[in-house]
Amino acid sequence: MKTVALVGSLRKDSYNMKLVKHIQEKFPELGIEIADISHLPFFNEEIEADPGQTVRDFQALVKSADAVIVATPEYNASMPAVLKNAIDWVSREGKEMAGKKVLIMGASMGALGTVKAQIHLRDVLDTVGVAAYVMPAAGGNDIFVGAAHTKFDENGQLTDEPTAQFISMVVERFKNFAALEVNL
Ligand SMILES: Cc1cc2nc3c(=O)[nH]c(=O)nc-3n(C[C@H](O)[C@H](O)[C@H](O)COP(=O)(O)O)c2cc1C
Repeated sequence: MKTVALVGSLRKDSYNMKLVKHIQEKFPELGIEIADISHLPFFNEEIEADPGQTVRDFQALVKSADAVIVATPEYNASMPAVLKNAIDWVSREGKEMAGKKVLIMGASMGALGTVKAQIHLRDVLDTVGVAAYVMPAAGGNDIFVGAAHTKFDENGQLTDEPTAQFISMVVERFKNFAALEVNL
């Protein structure tokens, strides 16, 4: 299985990156590859037909994935522009995200742990253009890691055991979701 992860933070010490790396280590069977979205140019329809190798490589990587994980910080109650930009690049003629099973999650220092950002993210992924199949929240699959600065140690390890256990439960469910045959 190949899972591509998009992390909406470019920060070296990003909690969202730590969250994805935790899942990458704990679930090697997901085959997680973390995409580098830091060098993507801003989306512009004028360069869409010939966007350059960085964009083409990113589009090919997403297209090759069996599943996608998106981890978003919350910037002013939404997802960061760098993440939205990356999603826009895989929503157009190649429709690289179409039909991908996606698990969304987020970590923030606030108490609500990216709730508002994830509402926007879910909406964006569930559009005609992006056409991804987002893991339903039904059943309690929301990964909102609030107060993230208290849940990782200085080595980037997730040390909050209830959070780690909850994430494991949701990832196990996601493996089942990702295996579903869906033809909409
Ligand atoms: C521009 C900006 C806006 C932010 N807005 C929010 C917000 O609306 N809600 C929140 O919980 N945290 C907010 N934060 C704090 C982030 O949760 C915190 O910086 C977090 O560590 C970012 O994720 P990262 O560690 O993956 O980079 C904001 C941070 C920045 C830089």
